[in-house]
Amino acid sequence: MSISLKNVSYSYQGKAQTVRAVDDVSFDFEAGRLYAIIGKSGSGKTTLMSLMAGLDLPTEGEIVVNGKATTAWDRNALRRDAVSVIYQNYNLFPLLTVSENIQYPLSLRKVSKAESKRLAAEMRARVALPEAYENRLPANLSGGEQQRVAIARTLAQGCKIILADEPTGNLDSTNTRNIVEILKSLAHDDGCTVIIVTHDPAVAEQADTVLQMKDGSWVF
Ligand SMILES: Nc1ncnc2c1ncn2[C@@H]1O[C@H](COP(=O)(O)OP(=O)(O)OP(=O)(O)O)[C@@H](O)[C@H]1O
Ligand SMILES: [Mg+2]
Repeated sequence: MSISLKNVSYSYQGKAQTVRAVDDVSFDFEAGRLYAIIGKSGSGKTTLMSLMAGLDLPTEGEIVVNGKATTAWDRNALRRDAVSVIYQNYNLFPLLTVSENIQYPLSLRKVSKAESKRLAAEMRARVALPEAYENRLPANLSGGEQQRVAIARTLAQGCKIILADEPTGNLDSTNTRNIVEILKSLAHDDGCTVIIVTHDPAVAEQADTVLQMKDGSWVF
């Protein structure tokens, strides 16, 4: 699946002023590649990611996912079937075990309990977490392990476009390397379109393409 930005702008409408957080941005993201978006705080990276995830709609221009503008996509379908998001703080369900967290997207589909368990174990192994972790709660895992669970949950969702906003922001360099390797493999081995927002030059260095934002636009 591809995702294309066509002259996308987004403004936050405040009482006193309007902030043009994304300003006429275009780009075609291709499947099978790892992209890094870098840029100073406030340059518009998170705003752009939420537009790509369909959480907000552009005020001008359009975002085309798999041939269809986000305005034409059913919001839930877009999030369920096309674009998944990985966050800096992992966003796991605290009361669900590792296995249940990974199975969550499968529970939204018509997947049998047995098949769902089997798939969750497969995804858990894919992110190199031991089987013994399946029944543990997120709070009893390290940050890097929690992020791996979040990635496994994304894998279970089966989305081909993965957006990650500072996925390694809370991790040390070893865990950062692990997570980036997993995301890279999703792009190169599974043909996903993976887009990471990062402040970390070591992460950006691993990307196939680095895009820099400044004042809501690309710096080329
Ligand atoms: N909800 C909001 N209402 C009004 N303005 C906002 C809102 N969210 C962000 N902004 C403004 O939009 C601009 C872009 O913010 P954004 O969060 O996209 O930046 P960012 O590049 O992700 O920054 P950071 O690296 O700090 O996460 C900033 O000027 C910010 O103040
Ligand atoms: Mg941000």
